[in-house]
Amino acid sequence: MKIRVLGAAAGGGFPQWNCNCPNCDGLRKGTVNARARTQSSIAVSGNGVDWVLFNASPDILAQIRGFPALQPARALRDTGIRSVVLMDGQIDHTTGLLMLREGKPLELFCTDMVREDMTTGNPLFNILGHYCGVNWHRLPIEPDNRFSVVGGEHLEFTSVPLKSKAPPYSPHRENPHIGDNIGMRIRDTRTGKVLFYSPGLGEIEPHVVAYLEEADCVMVDGTFWTNDEMVTLGISSKRARDIGHLPQSGPGGMIEVLKPLRASRKVLIHINNTNPILNEDSPERAELARVGIEVAFDGMDIEL
Ligand code: MLT
Ligand code: MN
Ligand code: ZN
Repeated sequence: MKIRVLGAAAGGGFPQWNCNCPNCDGLRKGTVNARARTQSSIAVSGNGVDWVLFNASPDILAQIRGFPALQPARALRDTGIRSVVLMDGQIDHTTGLLMLREGKPLELFCTDMVREDMTTGNPLFNILGHYCGVNWHRLPIEPDNRFSVVGGEHLEFTSVPLKSKAPPYSPHRENPHIGDNIGMRIRDTRTGKVLFYSPGLGEIEPHVVAYLEEADCVMVDGTFWTNDEMVTLGISSKRARDIGHLPQSGPGGMIEVLKPLRASRKVLIHINNTNPILNEDSPERAELARVGIEVAFDGMDIEL
């Protein structure tokens, strides 16, 4: 399977349009050794031709421009994107759908809960109904589910429900449901290799451990280094764990979770612009390198 990181940043991207934090300011001024990143999305292919898009980033048009495999090649109007899978109904993972409105009906896979959000609080499916239309496929959340997706040749998918909150505009924001947020196991049926992808992972629940331990590549939540990163910078009162993101450092943090895993690739993705790991010369980045944890960047390719 081929995995392409289209966007490695969390909501807002890096640099964020209105942010003067040390990272964003330093990147603009060229005083910090870092590269810009667009908002969170990956594409996966089992045959190298047909691609499944995981999340539709607001930056999708730039991401397509940067990746010829998704561009028209076979017909007057065409794309390498065969289907779209949503991990949640958040703005940074869904609003790119509007940019695909000129195409054929979207083969769209998401849970019942995300579909509810996408037809109410974030009614993109309704809007798209006036353009290309959405061909919705119910993404199963039952334990040990197995399913296939349009264009996912040689790939087998299993969704893993994760404890998290629905987006602020969800009708059930204060009443979390299974399926508001998922991780995904993707297995290549030819090589037997497994990717576990989870850009939002707030808590390592018991059922998630087995998926992490089994995977050949884990690509997981890299949003924040510390729980109070945005509070300390004076940017926000929101703490990482409160908004569904497990910080990397400290006891019980993501580094401790990833360290013992057998996976040959351990990759952090969905990185917030405040996170010091974006600075390639930072001690935090060196700490990750010492334990074999990579930081995803736009254009990163992984083959499993
Ligand atoms: C999140 O996952 O918490 C988001 O990146 C928030 C956002 O999109 O603003
Ligand atoms: Mn996000
Ligand atoms: Zn910033």
